Amino acid sequence: MYIKTAGLTTILLSIAAPWLYGRAILLSHMITNAPHKITPLSTFKAQEHRLTHSIRNCEDGLMDEAMGLAILSCDAGRDSWNTVLGYFNIADVVNGGLYLYDYSNADLSDEEALKRITFSNFPSAETDFHPLGIEYYAPTSTLYVVNHARSGSAVEIFQLSISDGIATHVGTLKHELLPTPNAIVAINEAEIYVSNDHHFRVRFNPVLAKLETYIGIPGGSVVHINLAKNITRTVARVPMANGIKFLNETTLAVSSSSTETVRLYNVTETTRDLVFLKSITVPEGSPDNLSVDGNGKLLIAAHMHVPSMMKISQTRIWCNSPEGQGTDVCKVRAPSWLGEWSEEGGVKTLYRGVDIMTASTVMRDTTRGIALVTGLYDRGVLVFRD
Ligand SMILES: *[C@@H]1O[C@H](CO)[C@@H](O)[C@H](O)[C@H]1NC(C)=O
Ligand SMILES: *[C@@H]1O[C@H](CO)[C@@H](O)[C@H](O)[C@H]1NC(C)=O
Ligand SMILES: *[C@@H]1O[C@H](CO)[C@@H](O)[C@H](O)[C@H]1NC(C)=O
Ligand SMILES: *[C@@H]1O[C@H](CO)[C@@H](O)[C@H](O)[C@H]1NC(C)=O
Repeated sequence: MYIKTAGLTTILLSIAAPWLYGRAILLSHMITNAPHKITPLSTFKAQEHRLTHSIRNCEDGLMDEAMGLAILSCDAGRDSWNTVLGYFNIADVVNGGLYLYDYSNADLSDEEALKRITFSNFPSAETDFHPLGIEYYAPTSTLYVVNHARSGSAVEIFQLSISDGIATHVGTLKHELLPTPNAIVAINEAEIYVSNDHHFRVRFNPVLAKLETYIGIPGGSVVHINLAKNITRTVARVPMANGIKFLNETTLAVSSSSTETVRLYNVTETTRDLVFLKSITVPEGSPDNLSVDGNGKLLIAAHMHVPSMMKISQTRIWCNSPEGQGTDVCKVRAPSWLGEWSEEGGVKTLYRGVDIMTASTVMRDTTRGIALVTGLYDRGVLVFRD
């Protein structure tokens, strides 16, 4: 009997060991990565803040190297409405917007380089628009936008004319398998993958949603949607699934923020099922968005210190008010980590610091030697040059 129990304990421990290890690292980062403890590092030659007076709270971005343009998804309303971290102050929520940023022409002023996308056939843009993850499928000019609307999260589909800066609404996707949509990646003109960060929606189940984050329960998911055939199904379970990108035609990368890993999956050609390949450990924080540069390197933006980020998410509304500016709580800067990964080179740190806080996406134009970083709760973008 005694031996049996011991055996069971050993088995349970060996099952729990990777989990305990992962949790211990997440917790230790809450101490070691406090803003005053980190050693700043940058591998870039120069850096410059841009657009700080025009936009803030930009969570996602996409680069079109051919045009030298970035599409940015920004939501000043996140100060008072955050469906991922769970902060709801419904009194006064401003709407977010999408922007085209010409980053390739250094001579342009911020005003000249930035153009707000206007919407056609989409009245919600004025009443209930809180963009998060975006995806642009260039061959059909289709723009997918996760909208954390107060009326319920959805994926909005637009036809984007980049030359006119007009996005014409063509449809809204809502589904019970899309409770917490976060990021989107297009497979072809009819199929997409969407990540859900949680099973429990923090708006309706705050305690369970927080437990899900901190225990690392695989409540998040990746959902495959075939728009032509009207098929929606779950193809992977991932704890706090976040950024999602194709590394190449057959490999999909999904970041798991609560376990500080990026997971690689092989995409089965006909069924679009995902077969787990391996997990990449993000050494210094919780990965948010992913992008892939022209050299095939996976770029990862990570939040180094979750407590500072939470504090920022809850004080922005105050800090962006005239009374709050300059007060002590508003001086907190949540550190960001930026890195790259490749099969040959492994994980490399590109940047660590607070010049941009709560970095959510890093993207790089390898031809021009320019990288852009957006911050979930910061102003403008940080532009790096090689
Ligand atoms: C980037 O991360 C955010 C979550 O913070 C998510 O909403 C968005 O979809 C991600 N974008 C991409 C392209 O992975
Ligand atoms: C698509 O399928 C869903 C069930 O998953 C159904 O409710 C909906 O009506 C279908 N839409 C169309 C256009 O057939
Ligand atoms: C991934 O899937 C493709 C087909 O979808 C296959 O050709 C390839 O060998 C697979 N790669 C791995 C590493 O499993
Ligand atoms: C895609 O990337 C994965 C991960 O780096 C690699 O193992 C695989 O061989 C690549 N496949 C192709 C077709 O390049």
